[in-house]
Amino acid sequence: MSIDHSNLTWSKPAADRLEWLRTRYPADKQRALILPVLHMAQREFGWVSPSVIDFVAAAIPVPTIQVEEVACFYTMYNRKPIGRWHLQVCHNISCSLMGAEIVLEHIEGKLGIKRGETTPDGEFTLMGAECLGSCGTAPMMQVNDHYYENLGLSDVDELLETLRATADIADDEANVAHGPGSGPSRKLPQDGEAHTAGSGVVLPGHAAGGH
Ligand code: FES
Repeated sequence: MSIDHSNLTWSKPAADRLEWLRTRYPADKQRALILPVLHMAQREFGWVSPSVIDFVAAAIPVPTIQVEEVACFYTMYNRKPIGRWHLQVCHNISCSLMGAEIVLEHIEGKLGIKRGETTPDGEFTLMGAECLGSCGTAPMMQVNDHYYENLGLSDVDELLETLRATADIADDEANVAHGPGSGPSRKLPQDGEAHTAGSGVVLPGHAAGGH
């Protein structure tokens, strides 16, 4: 998704939400708007470029350096353009024990990219992630705003095919109005349940489903 960052303006729902957010914090604590407004900007403009940081700083308003500090600190803010589908495979302890590295290498092989890279067609960006709080259903990955859990390699294959075939939808008013992390920025598969009951990754020396 390529969005021109040279002349940024909020959509009407985002502009309305910004005004609502202002009312949630005291006048002398407006710096607290940085997190939700940055997230909203990422949803609006695809990624957090230097232009987006300037835009957010002016909108709140706060010094640009304060927005820059926040955007650099949190990994959920994308500092580079990302693919239509953002695959974040958890590789923290629980997921590693359950085969996260195998999942990552499998996806790298399927897509022909390494973690941190985007496929040339702009469809997928692959990243490793630290614990995403779903350790009991390891291994797992987050795709845009949704979790896919108990991943087996066949689940991954099926999911990649489904995502590739899934069309974009525009952010709608409800999506913006619900705020950060509340919904998909693109139309996600409706059969997500099918991907939550995988047999798990088959680790060397273990039988399928034997974890
Ligand atoms: S270790 Fe993967 S979700 Fe916690």
